[in-house]
Amino acid sequence: MKVIECKDLVKKFKQLVAVDHVTFDVEEGEIFSLLGPNGAGKSTTISILCTLFRPTSGIAKVFGYDVLSQPTKVRKYIGIVFQSIVLDDLLTGYENLRFFARLGNMSKDRRKQRIEDILNLVDLLDRKDDLVRHYSGGMKRRLEIARGLLFHPKILFLDEATLGLDAQNRRRIWDYIQRLNKEEEITIFMTTHYIDEAEICNKVAIIDHGKIIAIDHPKQLKAQIGSEYVEVKLSHGELTKEAIGDGLDFITDIIPIKQTSMENTDTYRIMVSIPAEEAIPEIISRGTMNKLKFKSVQINKPTLEDVFIEHTGRGLRDQDEHGEELWKIRMRNEQLSGKTRGFRHRRRR
Ligand SMILES: Nc1ncnc2c1ncn2[C@@H]1O[C@H](COP(=O)(O)OP(=O)(O)O)[C@@H](O)[C@H]1O
Ligand SMILES: [Mg+2]
Repeated sequence: MKVIECKDLVKKFKQLVAVDHVTFDVEEGEIFSLLGPNGAGKSTTISILCTLFRPTSGIAKVFGYDVLSQPTKVRKYIGIVFQSIVLDDLLTGYENLRFFARLGNMSKDRRKQRIEDILNLVDLLDRKDDLVRHYSGGMKRRLEIARGLLFHPKILFLDEATLGLDAQNRRRIWDYIQRLNKEEEITIFMTTHYIDEAEICNKVAIIDHGKIIAIDHPKQLKAQIGSEYVEVKLSHGELTKEAIGDGLDFITDIIPIKQTSMENTDTYRIMVSIPAEEAIPEIISRGTMNKLKFKSVQINKPTLEDVFIEHTGRGLRDQDEHGEELWKIRMRNEQLSGKTRGFRHRRRR
């Protein structure tokens, strides 16, 4: 069942097209992620779906209800965790949730139990009477998630839920998100600019300059730009198809990689038509028979970052904090210094 449907969604802020003819569906039970750099239009899209912004044109439906004409119906089904913290620092964790529960007219007898249940779910029950100002960044995020869950949403929207957290706390938040998805059967719609975060999702829509440039399961997105390959470093010998590949039909190509460093090794990329982990033992045993000396062998896989680069010609975080894209700055500096070579920029499709 489709729980979110967007068709040709557009949001303009005066001249600026923040969301540019976006079309996608989210199935019930999915963890769906919008992946894109700063300013791509992620928060704007979420705000439209949560009935906070009116779309300029196009259609957005949540559980079949139109965000424009039936916003109250839509709100019944959703919980939101915003990009910026909306908690009151001077209240305790419990008091914060009680405030929002009252705001949403939750009856007094249900309130206490519900708040304790969700505080328990995000492991904050034992800290419920501490002031939020004494919470760590990760705890505040968890309390935000608890707030988003107060009214039993069927879809939880999370806008950059792990922004500014360290790796350990980010992983912990994902654990909660995955648990909510599995155990509470909540559909998750999240935005992120972290590659690894998008990897855990069932479906990823990559968004750039308001446009969706690719949408699929992370595995499929990566498969579309190429499969995994084996990278080999040799300290002795030359890796050619004759030296190693004779009879190894699964090797489709061997690409020598130029080394610019002082390293005394030769690196090769071996493209294979079977899973790389199955190819490795064969390559090593055949190579050793042919007197090659291996220094290292590893499997390399395309990442979602590679997918983004393939489509846009630049990296996801090639942007400074003021929003100016680093590749533009780099190009300008290189032009100024008369050095334009070495700048890698693939043509936008
Ligand atoms: N209320 C607003 N008024 C004017 N421009 C806005 C507003 N909100 C967002 N924008 C612009 O729309 C674009 C998309 O912003 P946003 O959706 O916040 O991106 P993201 O969440 O992907 O970083 C940006 O260029 C941003 O500056
Ligand atoms: Mg945002």
